[in-house]
Amino acid sequence: MVQATAIACSNIAFIKYWGNRDATLRLPLNNSISMNLDSATTTTTVAFDPALDDDVVVIGDQVAQGRHRARVVAHLERVRALARIATRARVHSRNNFPMGAGIASSASAFAALSLAATRAAGLELSERELSMLARQGSGSACRSIPGGFVEWYAGSTSAESYAVQLAPPSFWDLRDVIAVVSTTEKSVGSTDGHAAALSSHFFAERLAALPARLARVRHALAARDLPALGIASEEDAIELHLIAMTSRPPIFYWSPGTVRVIQAVQCWRAEGLAVYFTLDAGPNVHLLCHARDADTVVARVREIPEVLQVIVNAPGGAARLVDEHLF
Ligand code: DP6
Repeated sequence: MVQATAIACSNIAFIKYWGNRDATLRLPLNNSISMNLDSATTTTTVAFDPALDDDVVVIGDQVAQGRHRARVVAHLERVRALARIATRARVHSRNNFPMGAGIASSASAFAALSLAATRAAGLELSERELSMLARQGSGSACRSIPGGFVEWYAGSTSAESYAVQLAPPSFWDLRDVIAVVSTTEKSVGSTDGHAAALSSHFFAERLAALPARLARVRHALAARDLPALGIASEEDAIELHLIAMTSRPPIFYWSPGTVRVIQAVQCWRAEGLAVYFTLDAGPNVHLLCHARDADTVVARVREIPEVLQVIVNAPGGAARLVDEHLF
């Protein structure tokens, strides 16, 4: 029995993945661009064990059940098909941040699972192949395979849909300060949000606007231009939530704390602090700022009563294997 353990970062998208052309293969309708988050990681150990009758999946300290387990088992099936094996697996996975609250736990989880499970099965996939595999577990997970600043090419077939590095973590000392305003699992998961997105009549307008916004973000990254990156990221985050709120039925991810933090960011910026917000499909607010301003941003965010926890992230590295196993 060979164990393999991988660690992968979550990521925050500046341009979001929202809506699929093929929900089963997770082929998105648009390219997306993100940064890996070095303080929001998942560690996963996998071993294929001939003594097992069924897959065993432990997330945190609990044996996973229901849809969480089913999604991991479906991913193990993809790995078994690639490796041409039928052996069942033991999977232990641990996050160092709250699950299901708009910090993309599925991104780091499926990136770490893809790397650990393929190695445990005796496969050595390229970065592109790993990204394609991770994508099928959770779309945003394909962006957590390469390190640093990453673009996911939507493509129109599975072989064309994977993520590549735009710049390494050391390229830009940016910070993502996560203001956690809720740690409860959201009521509508991203997968259902993607499916609902196409029912919003603003969706087609978003798709039409994206090529220009993607180009702005690529240029902003290349020029390390925080105001340009920040404004484009805010536009995109607001648009994602506009589409969620106008989907049928509507989806509201925001909580009162979300609005408090967004309004505070606007005030701080008016006072001269270079800080911008973005959101995933959840209530927590991600604040983008220069490393030199991170302490100031953290201190101000902590003063907002609705903020429960603050997590500071620098650009994170690629998914990688480690020697310390979880079992
Ligand atoms: C709003 O990757 O979580 O965070 O493929 O169904 O697992 P599934 O969706 P997921 O969607 C992420 C949506 C987002 C934006 C983004 O990270 O690009």
